[in-house]
Amino acid sequence: MKHNPLSQKAQRTGPPPISWIMKTTLENPDIISLAAGFVDQETLPTSGVLSCCRRILEEDVRGKAALQYGTTIGHAGLRESILNLLVEEEGMSQAKNKGTPDNVVVTTGSQSFLYLVTDVLVDPGDVVIISDPSYFVYMGILEGVGADVRGVPMEDDGMSIDGVRRIVEQLRTEGKLERLKLIYVIPYSQNPSGITMSGKKRKELFGLVQETRKEAPVFVLEDCAYRELRYYGEQVAPIKLLDTENDSVIYAGTFCKPFSAGLKTGYGILPEELLGPVLHQKGNLDFGSSNFTQCIIDEAIRSGEYKRHRITVCEGYKTKLKVMLDALDEFAPAQMRWVVPQGGLYVWAAAPESIDTGREGELFNNAVSKGVMYIPGEFCFCPEPGRQKPRNWMRLSFGVESRDNLREGIRRLVEAVEETLAG
Ligand SMILES: Cc1ncc(COP(=O)(O)O)c(C=O)c1O
Repeated sequence: MKHNPLSQKAQRTGPPPISWIMKTTLENPDIISLAAGFVDQETLPTSGVLSCCRRILEEDVRGKAALQYGTTIGHAGLRESILNLLVEEEGMSQAKNKGTPDNVVVTTGSQSFLYLVTDVLVDPGDVVIISDPSYFVYMGILEGVGADVRGVPMEDDGMSIDGVRRIVEQLRTEGKLERLKLIYVIPYSQNPSGITMSGKKRKELFGLVQETRKEAPVFVLEDCAYRELRYYGEQVAPIKLLDTENDSVIYAGTFCKPFSAGLKTGYGILPEELLGPVLHQKGNLDFGSSNFTQCIIDEAIRSGEYKRHRITVCEGYKTKLKVMLDALDEFAPAQMRWVVPQGGLYVWAAAPESIDTGREGELFNNAVSKGVMYIPGEFCFCPEPGRQKPRNWMRLSFGVESRDNLREGIRRLVEAVEETLAG
């Protein structure tokens, strides 16, 4: 008899859609990609990073230290700079939030932080509540750990708190409440919907979690990947700010979106209880992310380069978002609708109801043959047994393409929608 050599986890984990997206993009080099969540190519900070590298490497001792292995938790200077940024921008403080640089863990992008935290908390069958739709790469992590994923609808001002409450009650009835481990939220310009969670909902969610923690070991996993990319609207403080005991909210952040994706550096702020367990796993995984990269980012923050760059990047994205929205206004038929985001990289758009935007559907193939690609919404909806996922949504990224290509990409996409409608 032939035995399956793969672990249960490997058997549970299907191919991530992201691999298929990258492959389709590479196989069609002339395609306008509204799919990939890449950052803007033109504004990447080459000269800023070059001068940071120079300053680091010109000092022999400092340069050599940067080229040596670092610690598992990450570069001390950078961890301090991260906290300082949050103190300055969001009013976090050691007195208020009990977090110190020792609660900050630097990781290889925030993706690996999300992976580590989920791995440390979730056993097969444990419950994770996520918004529906949600960040599809995180859903891959949940599939891998065998989580029982429960989706909560998105509303105009963030995930439905009544929806979360209903799931908590349902879990209580099922006798499964103590298996509720995480509530995953993307409060700023959510991927894919672009929706920013209101301050009111952040407070309500935090309050609900405090209540629920009397019966369940649940944490909020607050993924702030797009916090820095805000072009409109009021600044709203992260949920982490409410966590004055630093015991129930896990904050995930990244430098990939606001600075350089190629440096692939992210971080998390952890409650005391989770710090050791996450570091043990990270120690086994890589015993530390790239030290040199961390030194570059720390230098960029301390020299002011990072803040200057963020202004440039946000101005660039604001213009690109406008180009995409103007093109939708100009070309899209009346039956199409979309969400106008305050920031981030995506416009979440619905084709007319009768159209299936899925990767096997007619629209996707029509769009690719016209030289434009999008993320089928089907990837982003929760895999709930027995329910039919909405079929007509698409995630359109304005991050990577030029302004001309964005307009042309929307024109082609709309043409594909109209041809698909006409059958
Ligand atoms: C919501 C969200 N979280 C986390 C990530 C991971 O980003 P990175 O690992 O590049 O920091 C992304 C990337 O697109 C994202 O959209």
